[in-house]
Amino acid sequence: MQQIGVIGGGTMGAGIAEVCAKAGSDVVIVEVKQEFADAARSRVEKSLAKAVSRNKLEQADADAALGRLRVTTDYADLADRELVIEAAPEIEELKRKIFADLEEATGPNTILATNTSSIPIIKVATATTTPERVVGVHFFNPVPVMPLVEIISTLTTAPETADAVTAYVKDALGKNPVNAGDRSGFIVNALLIPYLCQAIRMYDSGYASAEDIDTAMKGGCGYPMGPLTLLDTIGLDVTLSAANSLYEEFAEPHLAPPALLRRMVDAGRLGRKTGRGFYTY
Ligand code: CAA
Repeated sequence: MQQIGVIGGGTMGAGIAEVCAKAGSDVVIVEVKQEFADAARSRVEKSLAKAVSRNKLEQADADAALGRLRVTTDYADLADRELVIEAAPEIEELKRKIFADLEEATGPNTILATNTSSIPIIKVATATTTPERVVGVHFFNPVPVMPLVEIISTLTTAPETADAVTAYVKDALGKNPVNAGDRSGFIVNALLIPYLCQAIRMYDSGYASAEDIDTAMKGGCGYPMGPLTLLDTIGLDVTLSAANSLYEEFAEPHLAPPALLRRMVDAGRLGRKTGRGFYTY
């Protein structure tokens, strides 16, 4: 697959576009406004520059990757894509609308993938009349650095669809794919989100500080980031969506999002991206 489309140029969409372009694919990012499309391009530029500064990439290869990237606000630019990966906000109705539009905009053989972190894939697949070509392809933040990709087949995903994206992720992108069933949270978030929510409850109960919780999990378990730093990095809004989705799926009390998480999202303290979360940036 050489012609790739990405819907949404935020943190995840830009990261996905970057790794696809670095792998030699021709990439089109679709955003809702030109201003957001330009911001997506500059996210990719910055990350490529960082990769060059860390000696992970030659300048010529960064330039070539940028040369393979286009940004647009027009779905018509997706007509020739072989694979489109949606990385829009975690709102089920929004994703369903996007998938209905993608069915119109792309050819019958285009694979339609969603990078949702926790919405069951079948919920977006059924917005199309061809759910056999819809699959979950879930990357991790920061996309250029994290090696894992979860591949999620629904009850209706054709085996050829899953096989084609698995081959692309492994052979072209050089990432490690794992397969997961179509349950909210898949593998990683089904385990990670309850842990992060438990860290918020611990912090809220006041028996350990944010710094001590983070220091404990880094030093005691070898995690690269403590849970509250990781929450600020992922975004508290993204975490709340994932927690809501898990609670809706499994209805277990320990999966209910903690009140403090809701209040912080209400207050606009979403983490790094808004300058304040559990820490101030
Ligand atoms: N391109 C390529 N390589 C890059 C890069 C870029 N833009 N930026 C950094 N790197 C490389 C660095 O060169 C470095 O490589 P070496 O180890 O070979 O030297 C490596 O990536 C680490 O970078 P840094 O030294 O800048 O930073 P760090 O050591 O502090 O690590 C981190 C940063 C990788 C983010 C690390 O803290 C980490 O792994 N954190 C946990 C991240 C995590 O858990 N992510 C999952 C979030 S959950 C999610 O995404 C799912 C969801 O749906 C919510």
